[in-house]
Amino acid sequence: MVGENENEIISGQNKAVTLASTTRVSDLASMLGVDPVELIKQLMRLGHMITLNDPLEYEIASKICTAYGIDVTSVSDQQSIDSGESSSTKGDLDLSQGAVERPPVVTVLGHVDHGKTTLLDSIRNTKKVDGEAGGITQHIGAYQVEYQDKSITFIDTPGHEAFTEMRARGAQLTDIAILVVAADDGLMPQTLEAISHIKAAGTPLIVAINKIDIPTADSDKVKRQLSENELLVEDWGGDVISVNISALKSEGIDDLLENILLVAEINELKTNPELSGTGVVIEAKVDKAMGNIVSVIVQSGFLRVSDYIESKNSKGKIRALLDENGKRVGKAGISMPVEILGLDNLPQPGDLIEVKPDSKNHKKKSSINSNVNTQSGITSTQAGNLLLQKNREDLVFLNLIIKTDVIGTIEAITKSVTAFDSESAKVNIVHAAVGTISPSDVSLALTTESVICGFNATTEAAARTLAKTSDVEIKNYNVIYNFLEFVEERLGKSKKAEFVDVIEGQAKVQEVFNVSKGRTVAGFVVTDGVISRGADIHVIRNNEEIFVGPISSLKHYKDDVKQVRAGTEGGMVVEGFSEIEQGDVLESHKLVEAQS
Ligand code: GTP
Ligand code: MG
Repeated sequence: MVGENENEIISGQNKAVTLASTTRVSDLASMLGVDPVELIKQLMRLGHMITLNDPLEYEIASKICTAYGIDVTSVSDQQSIDSGESSSTKGDLDLSQGAVERPPVVTVLGHVDHGKTTLLDSIRNTKKVDGEAGGITQHIGAYQVEYQDKSITFIDTPGHEAFTEMRARGAQLTDIAILVVAADDGLMPQTLEAISHIKAAGTPLIVAINKIDIPTADSDKVKRQLSENELLVEDWGGDVISVNISALKSEGIDDLLENILLVAEINELKTNPELSGTGVVIEAKVDKAMGNIVSVIVQSGFLRVSDYIESKNSKGKIRALLDENGKRVGKAGISMPVEILGLDNLPQPGDLIEVKPDSKNHKKKSSINSNVNTQSGITSTQAGNLLLQKNREDLVFLNLIIKTDVIGTIEAITKSVTAFDSESAKVNIVHAAVGTISPSDVSLALTTESVICGFNATTEAAARTLAKTSDVEIKNYNVIYNFLEFVEERLGKSKKAEFVDVIEGQAKVQEVFNVSKGRTVAGFVVTDGVISRGADIHVIRNNEEIFVGPISSLKHYKDDVKQVRAGTEGGMVVEGFSEIEQGDVLESHKLVEAQS
């Protein structure tokens, strides 16, 4: 049980962590190896109303670490622009065994017309390895290049405000900032603004002195102006890296890229690939044909097609992932820019997207590599999974946030709900306090998937609005009896809503027919099990899932059919997917209610 003060949260672990100026609550929880909900509760007890994705100031985070008996070192000094000698950065936040190097994420900033876009184009056109550069239109506001066998991710300049906004939201997306200054123009108002933003973010900096091909270019003047702004470049005895370039003539680009890799190496940008998948939103838009398209840069782990993901205001299953060239991919790894299809709302730039267990839909996924048993339609692996899931998921949780008018009610409720605890059910009071139902209660409920129950407690107007937009339930009671009825009903309901995702069959695409209006019919033969109407089709190419969508048409020869069985040929259209190829595997999934 949790104590009343921070000294009681010591767990006796003995390790050290390195903290940046801010750390997300979820990151801190994984660093400490504690339940994030438990950590949120601890923070609330210390007076910090905070949600899982909020950034924690160094002082607070280090206090928590100390209380857990963990030594803390700061990287904020080492990260400062002036230092140049840093040996450790935010990459260390993810450090644990198995950490691997990750590509740096680079943002280009500078005054209008100083050559930011030309520089990005030049890098993209000269350093793309896939031969696709030049002719193709860039798809996402970010791309990766390969240089000296290493990847570097560039984000198109998002404007200074967006840069800082993202930072304010706790999204430490940029590892290295490139400050572009035109050598014929010198430091201009937006250059100074950019310097302030970079300094505030504590991001390592490289100055690219551009347009050196112009006769009136004066890079010494730029260096002098930089020194007047506390940025002393290396050849003036300081530690700020500066590179002379001509973005237009593609000169000095290698020098710049080498320095980017050098700064990345000094800062030991690392990640643990075992971490669960997260990404930071860089832009979001609605496309008439494809629906919501959200561009993200992967921050940890992997995002995979058919993963269930959530952000602050959106959720959904990943229906498809598109790389920077609009090509479908099965998964996206660390620092990779990728577009996600399948979210129900448009998140804001800077929002965090997280892979979550699909608990809200009570939907579980079975292995995609199983061999289908044609007799039962359920594989032995799936049957095993089913049992395992039931054992593990048998416990139905109901998380509650309780707000009351008097303290006595809290005690009565806490006692009464323990009566529901059994081998198959657990009621968990995430937070209980006297007072009104506030927006921070709603944030906490959203983070912890709780229902808010008020007892003679008023709901603040802002909380009501937030609850509505974020789909958080608020219940109001006058008598405990009605509340207990609700708990009973909810525990029962949750049990009934248990579904498992079962593979019912597999087919191989033999031929592809392009029919009217961009519709593609896949001619297939069922290799295992059965393909039936109403199923979700998972398109697998080279062992990677690249799309998930329903069947919009299923035929055997010319006839519409309900099912196509093993050994039989058929034709289908997968809704929203017209890029089917010969050799693709079509896996048919259905949700089946688990028997209790
Ligand atoms: P905004 O997006 O408007 O802030 O500008 P920007 O910083 O992206 O500048 P952009 O790349 O659009 O370049 C502005 C102008 O400068 C264009 O006409 C470029 O061709 C020119 N330019 C960029 N780099 C160079 C360079 O190295 N040499 C010369 N001579 N011209 C350059
Ligand atoms: Mg531009």
